[in-house]
Amino acid sequence: MNFTILGTGSAMPSLCKTNDDLSKFLDTSDEWIRARTGIEQRYLCGEESITDLSCLAAEEALREAGIGAADLDLILCATATSEYRIPSMACLVQERIGAQCAAFDINAACSGFLYALDIAAGYYARKKVKHMLVIGADALSEIVDWTDRSTAVIFADGAGAAVLGEGDDLLASRIGARGNRAVLYAENVKGNSPFRMRDSEDGAQCEEQYIHMDGQEVFRFASASMTRELKQLMKDAGLTGKDVSYVLPHQANRRIIDFASSKLPEIASERFLTNIEKRGNTSAASIPVLMDEYNKKGTFKHGDILLLTAFGGGLTTASCALRWNGKQYNK
Ligand code: UT7
Repeated sequence: MNFTILGTGSAMPSLCKTNDDLSKFLDTSDEWIRARTGIEQRYLCGEESITDLSCLAAEEALREAGIGAADLDLILCATATSEYRIPSMACLVQERIGAQCAAFDINAACSGFLYALDIAAGYYARKKVKHMLVIGADALSEIVDWTDRSTAVIFADGAGAAVLGEGDDLLASRIGARGNRAVLYAENVKGNSPFRMRDSEDGAQCEEQYIHMDGQEVFRFASASMTRELKQLMKDAGLTGKDVSYVLPHQANRRIIDFASSKLPEIASERFLTNIEKRGNTSAASIPVLMDEYNKKGTFKHGDILLLTAFGGGLTTASCALRWNGKQYNK
């Protein structure tokens, strides 16, 4: 036994910024950003915190699932940009929504939500839980260097959530990592220990706390791994391209998604779902937000087979195949 998805929810900050808005203070242009990433606009935290967004997404997912916070047995939150190091974001959400269950965070960068689903499957297999809340939430705008045009134009903020119940709808799940600090990193805030003797690897610059990315290197890793992981996932689940209803890829760059789609001609390209145009790259929120959006549009029908696939800092990869059995929405 594993799980079924009972309800989904998502929340975006109220502040929406277009490419033209960014080109007012960065040496960039709407034309470049659209052509190289597919992004037209993104939502960024202004007044709201990432905890606020996570709670909104969680409450919506609970409503859609038809259960209350008191029915939850475990909350898992995937994030790399929690407001606090202590307590975890999962505990902050637990308090705010009025749940009483165990709660913890995981960090697998943009792959975090799918790592969390993989962990959730273990709790169901051990029959430790009936209802779980899984959140993917990030506010990359808080750690982006807003003078660095190569990262500031792609990252964005948001939160997505799914409420799980007992079922058998996880057909296969894969997680992986290829440890690599250099190509995508942001250091933690340092304390003021009088005993600290070492500098950070690159020389104790406070700029290290901003996100650093070798975009081309990540692009290469992402393009190769997304194709490879989707092929292996289908094999693990005993599926062929014809069985696949939709692919929900991490929304990092439109070109990465198009590349993966071109290498998998057995899945029609329109089956690869996107929302990067309007939302940018929201890291761990990317896949649950995409799932919620297409769910509420009535895109998914009972029995549909969804392939979810992500990659991110770490470097991490994660993917899973799901049978859709959630609440049915009208188109
Ligand atoms: O989700 C987490 C994982 N992250 C990712 O998946 C990101 C993967 N990487 C990418 O999406 C792409 O590498 C980027 C969108 C980050 C960059 O696109 P690119 O096509 O790889 O650009 P590039 O780094 O090769 O740069 C090409 C040119 C350079 O100028 P020169 O040297 O050719 O004169 C850059 O300086 O584009 C320039 N450039 C920009 N120009 C206008 C880089 N960023 C910008 C910008 N606006 N924002």
